[in-house]
Order: sequence, then C-alpha cells, then structure tokens
Amino acid sequence: NAIAHDLRTPITRARTQLEDAALHAKNEDELRAAIEQAVGNLDNVTSICEALLRIAQIESGARRSAFVLFDLIPALQDVCELYEAVAEEHGLRFVQHLPDHLPFFGDRAMFQQAVANLLDNAIKFSPPHGTITLSAEILSTARRTDGSRGKRLRLSVTDEGIGMSEADMARASERFFRAEQARNTPGSGLGLSLVQAIVQLHDGTLQLASNTPGLITRIEIPLPDAETVPLAQPRAAHP
Ligand SMILES: Nc1ncnc2c1ncn2[C@@H]1O[C@H](COP(=O)(O)OP(=O)(O)OP(=O)(O)O)[C@@H](O)[C@H]1O
Ligand SMILES: [Mg+2]
Repeated sequence: NAIAHDLRTPITRARTQLEDAALHAKNEDELRAAIEQAVGNLDNVTSICEALLRIAQIESGARRSAFVLFDLIPALQDVCELYEAVAEEHGLRFVQHLPDHLPFFGDRAMFQQAVANLLDNAIKFSPPHGTITLSAEILSTARRTDGSRGKRLRLSVTDEGIGMSEADMARASERFFRAEQARNTPGSGLGLSLVQAIVQLHDGTLQLASNTPGLITRIEIPLPDAETVPLAQPRAAHP
C-alpha cells in the first residue's frame, strides 16, 4: 500500500547510498557526503512514521479526552507569531482577521497544529509578494443535526499562490497525495491528512476552494453552546 511504499522509497535510497559509498567512495569527503544524504533520507522516514502515528492516534479518538474549553484567539496568535516571521522571510504579507475572544471546546495543541499546517502550505505554495490571510468568524445560521440552531467557527487561510485544480482539491487530504506542481517543494503529503483527522475529531469539516489566484482552505467546527457552557471558565491554577 501507499504507506509501505512511501517508507520503502527513502529507506531503499539510504541503503543504496551507503552501499555505494562503501564500495566506491574515493576519499573521506565522498564518504561523508554519502552518509549525510543517507541520514537525511532516514530522518525523512522518521518524520513520516511520526506523522502517521499521530494521525492514527487522533483517528482512534483517544485525544478527545484532552478537550477543554479555552479562548481560541490567544492560541491562534501564538501560531501566527511563529508564521509571521516565516512569511516575512519568504517576502509574503500575513494578515489576520480575528475577533477579540472566541470560546472554543477542543484540543488546544492539536488545533494549533492544524492551523500551522495550513499556514505552512500557504507559505510553501506562494511566490513572493503575495498576501496570506488568516480569518476566524462565527457563523450562527448553521443547523445542527438534531435541528437546534448552533454557532460554528469558520477559520480560513487564504493565499495567492499556485492554487490547485478541482481534481487535485478532491484528493488533497489523502495520505501522501501531492499535486504534480508540488513535486519540487519539500514535504510528504501528510500535512492535510493530519488537518483532516484533527478537524474530524472536533466534529468539523475541511474544505478547499479556489482563490484565483491561490487557494482557500476552510475549517468549520461547531462551537459550544453559550447556554450550556460558561463563557469564561476560570482556568485551574498550575502549581
Ligand atoms: N495552499 C496551497 N496551495 C497550493 N497547493 C496546495 C496548498 N496546500 C496544499 N496543496 C497541495 O496539496 C498537497 C497536499 O498537501 P499536504 O499539506 O498534505 O502535503 P505537503 O505540504 O506536500 O507535505 P507535508 O505537509 O507533509 O509537508 C500539496 O502537496 C499540494 O499539492
Ligand atoms: Mg503541507
């Protein structure tokens, strides 16, 4: 299957490099270069394994026990701070449209990871001088499955980069999927799979849409009921 194949490729490559170097390296420099390349390939294997394990753990639902009520805005601002610097390095403008507070029920670290993956993609697939926008809004028109009216969070990351075809968008969150135009950028095609797993854990949806030029990735997640959950739950003091 795809997983075994994707792990086998870098492992085989590392093995070939080492074997080749052992047989044919003419000097220490050549040997050292081959070993460094092999180490790089094996690091890649490790990160693929870690991502797959994380996805499996999330899909098992085990992380739901770590759900808490928290204000999403400072959590998003922490992620933005990090990616603002990365965007700047790439010559990109990073704009944020966020409300002052947004009570959210979920796994804080996981959700930050999901947003980080979206921003990482937006930066990676944008040529310089574009704008990346992160916005969060509350929708109150959606109906829940039980018929009651509920609020939903809509979080969008918009870029002006290379974008995706409709056909590729439909496959974007498949494990290991990478569009043809993405082949010369680093990555293993697991970022959106992880986002998809995290969003599903929060009973939400992930959608992709065109931004001509660029891509819009949108997460929608049901928000806790103001009537049933206190808006500002005091956080337990850490010892
Ligand atoms: N903002 C975007 N603009 C254009 N294409 C995108 C964007 N985000 C994702 N894609 C496409 O979807 C594919 C899958 O994205 P995903 O994040 O899962 O993988 P990746 O970024 O290639 O690798 P990884 O996230 O594992 O480092 C990408 O390879 C790319 O083809
Ligand atoms: Mg990615």
